[in-house]
Amino acid sequence: MSKAKIIAAYEALADNYNRLIEHKPHNAYYDRPNTLALMPEINGKTVLDAACGPGKYAEILLAQGAMVTGFDISPRMITLAKARNAEAGTFFVHDLSEPLDMVDNGSFDIVLCALALHYLPDWTPTIREFYRVLKPGGYLVISIEHSFFEYNFFQSKQYFQTEPVKCTWKGFGQPVEVHSYRRPLSACIAPLTDNGFYIDRLVEPKPTPEFEQYDPRHFKELNEFPSFMCMRAVRRGE
Ligand SMILES: C[S@@+](CC[C@H](N)C(=O)[O-])C[C@H]1O[C@@H](n2cnc3c(N)ncnc32)[C@H](O)[C@@H]1O
Repeated sequence: MSKAKIIAAYEALADNYNRLIEHKPHNAYYDRPNTLALMPEINGKTVLDAACGPGKYAEILLAQGAMVTGFDISPRMITLAKARNAEAGTFFVHDLSEPLDMVDNGSFDIVLCALALHYLPDWTPTIREFYRVLKPGGYLVISIEHSFFEYNFFQSKQYFQTEPVKCTWKGFGQPVEVHSYRRPLSACIAPLTDNGFYIDRLVEPKPTPEFEQYDPRHFKELNEFPSFMCMRAVRRGE
């Protein structure tokens, strides 16, 4: 699967994504509250927002006193992240699967990576980079699509495989085909625990009450079966 297709999809989605995620229920009342609840104290902390999209998480973290650096593979997303956050934060175009050569070892207290790791065929180099740029004892907070949800949604017959999948997103204006990778639960855990992290929190989130007024059907479904999973991992010492 071509990385170019993922970039093209997000370039096409970026403006509507930026506008709609303020209240889009899966973002505003499902992913963000549950992922943010895993963040440690952030006032005065350095946070790397990896695959920051249009900078909504960064906006929230900056308002709480964090020093935020964000990157994303989509140039349009980075333009929107800069516009949203005016003079605050630092944002640049970068690919999660490439080394962060411009970042020194142990630079960050926290790495956040929300709803993006499923665009990578192999998490290991990325998780190793997160380990390198985090301080010992630093936190990695991630949200991902739940393996069991994806197995059902994509009607996989190969649970143990990491497979390319695609889905047409219709909730952000013109339909856009979005390519990603689904993988088994073990392939979401082992890259962390094999590369210097231990997992200290794992949440199968429930929607917040506001979700129901925007989308009662998915509110009911998400109270019966999770779509996402949120984890907090701690970087072990040297
Ligand atoms: C669902 S959006 C999430 C954005 C943001 N984290 C949020 O939750 O609001 C996924 C983001 O991942 C970015 N992305 C996909 N593949 C990437 C890669 N290889 N490197 C960096 N960013 C990537 C997309 O451009 C998009 O902005």
